[in-house]
Amino acid sequence: MAKQATVLTEAQSADAMLRARARRVVPGGMWGHLNAARLPEGYPQFFASADGCRVRDVDGREYIDFMCSWGPVLLGHRHRDVEAAARAQADLGDCLNGPGEVMVGLAEDLVAMLPHADWAMFQKNGADATTSCVTIARAGTGKRKVLVARGSYHGALPWCSPSVAGVTAEDRAHLLHFEYNDVASLRAAVDEAGKDLAAILVTAFRHDMGRDLEMPTAEFAAAARAACDDAGAALIIDEVRAGLRLDIRGSWEPLGVRPDLCAWSKAIANGYAIAAVTGNDKFREAATKVFVTGSFWCGTVAMAAARATLKVTRETAVPERLHAMGLRLREGLATLADRHGIAIRQSGPPQMPLMLFDADPEVLKGRAFCSAALRHGAFFHPQHNMFLSAAHGPADIDAALEAAAHGFERVAELGARL
Ligand SMILES: Cc1ncc(COP(=O)(O)O)c(C=O)c1O
Repeated sequence: MAKQATVLTEAQSADAMLRARARRVVPGGMWGHLNAARLPEGYPQFFASADGCRVRDVDGREYIDFMCSWGPVLLGHRHRDVEAAARAQADLGDCLNGPGEVMVGLAEDLVAMLPHADWAMFQKNGADATTSCVTIARAGTGKRKVLVARGSYHGALPWCSPSVAGVTAEDRAHLLHFEYNDVASLRAAVDEAGKDLAAILVTAFRHDMGRDLEMPTAEFAAAARAACDDAGAALIIDEVRAGLRLDIRGSWEPLGVRPDLCAWSKAIANGYAIAAVTGNDKFREAATKVFVTGSFWCGTVAMAAARATLKVTRETAVPERLHAMGLRLREGLATLADRHGIAIRQSGPPQMPLMLFDADPEVLKGRAFCSAALRHGAFFHPQHNMFLSAAHGPADIDAALEAAAHGFERVAELGARL
């Protein structure tokens, strides 16, 4: 088929022009969940720059950012110390013939910071880390069954993708499911696995899209630990999304439960591409034996960025600061909703909040709220947990609440029509 010239009028925004170009050369214009068509009306597809807690789209509109690149931006976009460390390492070379000194330093940092960890190894994406954990658990135990919570997200590879397109039943042949926070269903899945239990894989808290977030109960965490101990299986915590925002020692540390293996990515390098698996000595030999690798896994720039991110996070009480700003946002949203007589539910840790509207099965209220707030400069999400960064200060939260007020006004105005 002959390629047609794209006819674009000057009236079109830069975003619209890019979408038109992308539709020709990128599947769906943008594939997957980042396609802006899935987001509320008015959300941009393309972004130009970001700084601190603000992100700018290609049309120059600026938003107070509550997605933080869907998690990676922990300290704020383009944090000075992280950028300086990355630049200094880039001047020396990123992609060498093997790891640089920085890899050993980063592994030392993680082992010092995480009570469960005796060693660390590195990848690029969260799914590399969760998959490596599963592989190491199977290699270490010689068993096959892996228990995962129904609806939990662990990545977009065939064994764990939430979509069935292109996935075979065999890809998931050895997965068994339980309900998050439901000890009886966990025990039933453990019984079903019998002598073939390799691992229980569980997210740091329940953050499935579109439903209220749930922190793990102490009883559930202890039951997962005990089941793994009884069976000689690995307890794997998927910290890819929550890691460093709740507790820098590991999200289950306050519950007194330590994993055998842990998957990290997103926030650990403040936006640079890196993932990590940390583990204890029980699984050190297995981690040595498995064949897991990637062309870019030794990239030194992301490792330097990670070292700088961890240092700032350790030294400046990042989870506590995020918590304080998250509470300010939560209280402000509750007050606004109350003022309009609109029933909402806020759940999850304040550092990674979610706000859902009552009686909103199709998320029409949520989407109307977000569109209006976006027009007034706040980038919220109607269904996915959001993310605070250490760059959000009280004035930013207050400005976002002003934008949110427009969101609630819009929902009240639409009233019964939604
Ligand atoms: C809990 C969790 N695990 C794993 C992943 C996969 O990470 P990635 O998209 O970097 O492969 C994600 C990504 O959102 C996640 O939230």
